[in-house]
Amino acid sequence: MLVDTLGDVTITGDGATILKEMDVEHPAAKMMVEVAKATDDEVGDGTTSVVVFAGQLLKKAEELLDKDVHPTVITDGYKQSSDKALKVLSEIAIDVPPTDREMLKKVAMTSMATKLITEDKGHLADLAVEAILKVAEKDGDEYKVDLDNIEVEKKEGGSLVETKLIQGIAMEKEVVHPGMPKKVEDAKIALLNCALEIEKTEFDAKIDIKSPEQMKTFLDEEETMMKDMADKVADSGANVLMCQKGIDDMVQHFLAKKNILAVRRAKESSMDKLAKATGGRVVTNLKDLTDKDLGKAKLVEERKLGEDEWIFIEGCNNPKALTMLIRGATEKIVDEAERSIHDALSVVRDVVRRPKVVVGGGAPEMEVASQLREWAESISGRAQLAALGFAEALEVMPITLAESAGMNPIDATVDLRARHEKGEKWAGVDVFNSKVTDMMKLEVYEPLAVKEQVVKSATEAASMILRIDDIIASSKEKTPAGPPKGPGAGEEGPESEY
Ligand SMILES: Nc1ncnc2c1ncn2[C@@H]1O[C@H](COP(=O)(O)OP(=O)(O)O)[C@@H](O)[C@H]1O
Ligand SMILES: [Mg+2]
Repeated sequence: MLVDTLGDVTITGDGATILKEMDVEHPAAKMMVEVAKATDDEVGDGTTSVVVFAGQLLKKAEELLDKDVHPTVITDGYKQSSDKALKVLSEIAIDVPPTDREMLKKVAMTSMATKLITEDKGHLADLAVEAILKVAEKDGDEYKVDLDNIEVEKKEGGSLVETKLIQGIAMEKEVVHPGMPKKVEDAKIALLNCALEIEKTEFDAKIDIKSPEQMKTFLDEEETMMKDMADKVADSGANVLMCQKGIDDMVQHFLAKKNILAVRRAKESSMDKLAKATGGRVVTNLKDLTDKDLGKAKLVEERKLGEDEWIFIEGCNNPKALTMLIRGATEKIVDEAERSIHDALSVVRDVVRRPKVVVGGGAPEMEVASQLREWAESISGRAQLAALGFAEALEVMPITLAESAGMNPIDATVDLRARHEKGEKWAGVDVFNSKVTDMMKLEVYEPLAVKEQVVKSATEAASMILRIDDIIASSKEKTPAGPPKGPGAGEEGPESEY
């Protein structure tokens, strides 16, 4: 549970989120946060693993530094070990059919196994697989998946089983005027990023009105301007208007008269998704709006979801546009569900893109460590020590899992090492039954891409930190555009120690 300075609470089991929300000062710690973020961007999972592993690599490096092994020797040994580890990983990886639903579901389930949402993981995993297979595009022998096609929306209320996939876009908005239609078929959608209001002057202006006629002309003029705005939208042929800014009451009234369904203050991200989904273009000046800019969808409709109104845009021009609508009893639950879905979507995408998996439970890490030890004997000099350290650091993953499962970490390590020596390459930690078993039998699968990324990123991060000789506070003068120095700023002198 993370509590920020304002007292807002986040409850999560997601490594990337914990690090993102944590208030870190130390530059090396900041680098760790960045590694987690990079891993998240790249493969979407393995963020805890990468930080745990990088931390362990640094710990092993410290032991070697104490024995007077030079940092460059360590980074060199780590680099060689990382290359070798990646080779071993690709050798032990299992090829799977890229669109095999059963396998993809197992991978999705593994990514959610460690998350806080306990019920209905199966349902969420099914949805994740469904969503990815819908947006996957065959490209030669491979598949391309654009996660941007899947919008994830959340709404507390109901339960996790009510989470569903919508073919199109859904957003928490309402039709602005009661006189407008709530449902439009064969929608032609104008996407506007400008306010349909009369701009207020920036300075205080005073208008002297001397007679009632003048007053009337004045008001009529305003009305005509507003009517023109509505006419302009109607003239383009649009029957639906999605506006990112506000729409004046009067303009709403004229739009309603033209039977146009309008929504105001749509989120920027929704506008982008809408443009992509409906094939329309977001127009920033109403004067430029033409029929060529309109997006198309079979149906735009306002429906009630729980207490609130939502707008659904279905049957879009681009059939690949999907929305995953997450439901759950409380805000904290939908938030954690969203993070879990993110991981699930990412790992399924990883496997569809590159159909190779390994098992979980620390088995591949153990196997790689065991093969690295053998290989280390072939390297000469002190780099060998680094390679051995690297192998030992890899074992932190199964050891952590064993600890979390309430097992004795030393017993577990000894058992795991012995089994891998004997050639049981999938021996790992069964966290639910707290014992060492063949993970293949448990069908706990993970994308090879995630394991590779963990090894690569952690090695890079550790080496980067090892290359730092000293931390020197740099001059603040460099950035003249920076914030002005307040009292107390720049007080930490060059000797400030982290
Ligand atoms: N059912 C399971 N049995 C054993 N290990 C599992 C199981 N499900 C997941 N794991 C392991 O949990 C680890 C991932 O934990 P997680 O909290 O998701 O961290 P990360 O952020 O690194 O993905 C992986 O090493 C994976 O193999
Ligand atoms: Mg995970």
